[in-house]
Amino acid sequence: MNEKKFVRKILCVGAGYVGGPTMTIIANKCPEYQVTVVDINQARIDAWNSDQLPIYEPGLKERVLQARGKNLFFSTEIDKGIQEADIIFVCVHTPTKDFGEGAGKASDLQFIEATARRIKDQSSGKKIVVEKSTMPVRSAEALERILHSGNNSSEFEVLSNPEFLAEGTAIRDMENPDRVLVGSRETPSGIKARDELVKIYEHWIPKERVITSNLWSSELSKLTANAFLAQRISSINSISAICEETQANVREVGNAIGKDTRIGEKFLFAGPGFGGSCFRKDIANLVYLCETYGLKEVAEFWDQVIKMNDYQMDRFFKRILRAMFNSLVGKKIAVLGFAFKPDTSDTRDAPAITICKKLLREQARLGVTDPKALENAKLDLQGVEGSVEFYADPYEAAKNAHALVLITEWEEYKNLDYSRIFKSMEQPAFVFDGRGVLDHQKLFDIGFNVYSVGQPGMEHFSG
Ligand code: NAD
Ligand code: UGA
Repeated sequence: MNEKKFVRKILCVGAGYVGGPTMTIIANKCPEYQVTVVDINQARIDAWNSDQLPIYEPGLKERVLQARGKNLFFSTEIDKGIQEADIIFVCVHTPTKDFGEGAGKASDLQFIEATARRIKDQSSGKKIVVEKSTMPVRSAEALERILHSGNNSSEFEVLSNPEFLAEGTAIRDMENPDRVLVGSRETPSGIKARDELVKIYEHWIPKERVITSNLWSSELSKLTANAFLAQRISSINSISAICEETQANVREVGNAIGKDTRIGEKFLFAGPGFGGSCFRKDIANLVYLCETYGLKEVAEFWDQVIKMNDYQMDRFFKRILRAMFNSLVGKKIAVLGFAFKPDTSDTRDAPAITICKKLLREQARLGVTDPKALENAKLDLQGVEGSVEFYADPYEAAKNAHALVLITEWEEYKNLDYSRIFKSMEQPAFVFDGRGVLDHQKLFDIGFNVYSVGQPGMEHFSG
């Protein structure tokens, strides 16, 4: 048994996309801290302890292997973890409520509350509880009330430390973040707890990038950051619709406006709509909060970001239908990419799910391929009526297809042998480039009819 003494014991409740990677980086950077990640899901914990990690994220496995068994542990012993910990990160999911009051908008906070109650029941002495999950503004107050309820003698200080990592780039985002945000009560004990957390991050992050604020600003900053990012995508997607009508090219427009340093170049890529587990959920939550506070106009403003996203997915689908002579019955369509973005196996709220369902309703036959997300794709389309086959090999997915529909811009799809693919397809052959990343002229010269989001179609049909 390794009797090594650790200066502090950190516990993370929730071993998901955030809990696993963030704690791995803390363990890597702070060898003198013991970091334990717990979850109610035994299979997930087993996977974290195996060679097949439960999530795919570039660079993650090496970093897990570097620390696992030394100062990084994955376990289902939640109570023991709580009893021993000095600092507890809460990283459980906060999905959109799908029942009762606020269904479809409000956050379902049952997992947060269950965690808070368990922390209360298993604690003694002083503990710092850190909200890392994304929560509605003023959630920390509810957390404090639960933790301090009853005749518990423990003392808790609640901090807000929202996570800004994006999937696919999680390691880079955590090792070199634009900023880390820590919100606290502005009391002596609040500031003391805040300084403890800041000290952890200062192991690898320059002081000036660790920013502090009050609890509510911190909670609201997370929702606001996601709302602004998603809003940019809906903005450029709305412009892509005008481009398709006017022979303008959304890539050129994005490039031209992005050069204005006030606008900036990032997040201006039109696509089939944003996906992922958080943008829709966090904006819906923001909308719900606004409605709760009676801010109708503000709620409507942000709701439009979601509406534009739904419109974009539908528009992409309808362009496929229209170009293919308004009938997809029995036609094979190869779907290139199912993950909500490249370099992840995550398919939560992926636009591919919505678009595939719409294609299936038209009785198209789908050949779905993805380098990392096929297993999740199978689960997402399980029980959906219609014909779907899954292929590890994109060339097999494309064989005898009438159309290629690129939904996720995996690097390897840019370099496929499209002449070979063209020869294996039914004619006329179509490409729908949902991300505007393929070489359209080359595809057109091969013989494809090419349609890219926000760009005029390139068709071989005359008259
Ligand atoms: P996730 O679903 O991948 O993981 C959550 C984990 O919590 C699950 O493994 C679940 O079993 C576990 N859990 C639930 N209740 C529990 C309990 N009572 N005790 C122990 N474990 C419990 O979710 P995620 O993607 O990691 O997101 C977590 C939070 O972080 C959410 O609030 C999300 O909005 C936020 N966030 C996510 C990302 C992202 O990229 N996924 C980025 C930033 C912030
Ligand atoms: C997003 C935020 O970028 C993170 O900062 C945040 O921490 C996270 O949500 C969260 O709270 O969960 P993520 O959803 O992992 O991260 O990935 P993004 O890179 O933001 O992409 C989201 C979606 O937007 C993807 O479907 C992507 O394809 C799409 N997108 C992104 C576009 O369509 N165009 C763009 O220009 C950028």
